[in-house]
Amino acid sequence: MAAAASLSVMVLLCLAAVVSAQLSATFYSRSCPRALATIKSAVTAAVAQEPRMGASLLRLHFHDCFVQGCDASVLLNDTATFTGEQTANPNVGSIRGFSVVDNIKAQVEAVCPGVVSCADILAVAARDSVVALGGPSWRVLLGRRDSTTASLSLANSDLPAPSLDLANLTAAFAKKRLSRTDLVALSGAHTIGLSQCKNFRAHIYNDTNVNAAFATLRKANCPAASGNGDGNLAPLDTATSVAFDNAYYTNLMAQSGLLHSDQQLFNGGATDGLVRTYASTPTRFNRDFAEAMIRMGNISPLTGTQGQIRRACSKVN
Ligand code: HEM
Ligand SMILES: *[C@@H]1O[C@H](CO)[C@@H](O)[C@H](O)[C@H]1NC(C)=O
Ligand SMILES: *[C@@H]1O[C@H](CO)[C@@H](O)[C@H](O)[C@H]1NC(C)=O
Ligand SMILES: *[C@@H]1O[C@H](CO)[C@@H](O)[C@H](O)[C@H]1NC(C)=O
Repeated sequence: MAAAASLSVMVLLCLAAVVSAQLSATFYSRSCPRALATIKSAVTAAVAQEPRMGASLLRLHFHDCFVQGCDASVLLNDTATFTGEQTANPNVGSIRGFSVVDNIKAQVEAVCPGVVSCADILAVAARDSVVALGGPSWRVLLGRRDSTTASLSLANSDLPAPSLDLANLTAAFAKKRLSRTDLVALSGAHTIGLSQCKNFRAHIYNDTNVNAAFATLRKANCPAASGNGDGNLAPLDTATSVAFDNAYYTNLMAQSGLLHSDQQLFNGGATDGLVRTYASTPTRFNRDFAEAMIRMGNISPLTGTQGQIRRACSKVN
């Protein structure tokens, strides 16, 4: 009897854990009904002013979710006594959009103080950015809370590098319980935004699976010697870099992926077929991308009484 009672307590605790880990699209509909509209109008304005900002906001959500889960850890500034993630190799001199996020947070705090997490703002801003650039929409699940910690070492180990091969990319996504389909669909985010020369130099100069005319075009603004023009920018999607479309995949089929990691998705391996499908059927890409974004947004959220709702996204309360 005691054993049965403690068993049922255990079952209840497990159920509670499952329920509290569940996010919901209507999480703020009573506590902050204006949250979503406030975020959307701020994102739309920022993207209208600078289209690349849509890409930068989408990437922030990715770099948040792959490191300790979607908990806004990426937004925490370094201080004299706190080391955040912003100096990690994949982030330093590269991730951007913090002032837009701070501005959104200030507007949301003005309508509902202390209610909406920075982690949820990143998830909604990513969706609104994709929509502002002509991509698919989806219902963002909400209820994440913000971390009081960050991890420089996890940012260095868990964010995939552009030098990785398909097996390593697949493993990096599998570590986050994301499938090979998720990898190929989410990489379609590289239909928008820019990359620095240092991240594609080795690919255009030394890889053999590169279209010759494309390599020549990109070499013109990316000198071979490292240290020269490292920060020079080129569009990740050579065809339509400010439209969220499926041209990324047609580029790959033409051996015109900018990053080594991009071209790995169409290099005679297991993902070639999916690249062809997304190139020929934009509706399939849009659907799979939206579903994969929801799965990425579900990575290890803090919920219930875990973490906090930060008042300013760049520092813990
Ligand atoms: C599959 C593994 C991935 C690798 C190796 C990778 C790597 C990179 C690199 C090297 C850059 C250029 C950064 C710079 O030069 O400053 C970049 C940019 C970008 N990435 Fe990825 N990425 C990956 C997946 C993703 C995913 C899953 C998303 C979002 C769902 C994403 C969204 C973006 C966006 C939008 C940009 C452009 C950002 C801007 O212009 O500010 N990437 N990525
Ligand atoms: C975090 O760093 C950014 C960029 O340096 C700065 O603009 C912002 O004010 C900082 N936030 C806090 C709370 O200090
Ligand atoms: C990439 O994968 C190979 C095996 O497929 C492994 O030996 C290697 O250590 C991995 N490299 C990285 C950087 O993860
Ligand atoms: C290309 O490969 C050669 C030989 O490994 C290396 O010396 C050179 O630095 C590489 N160039 C680039 C741009 O990565």
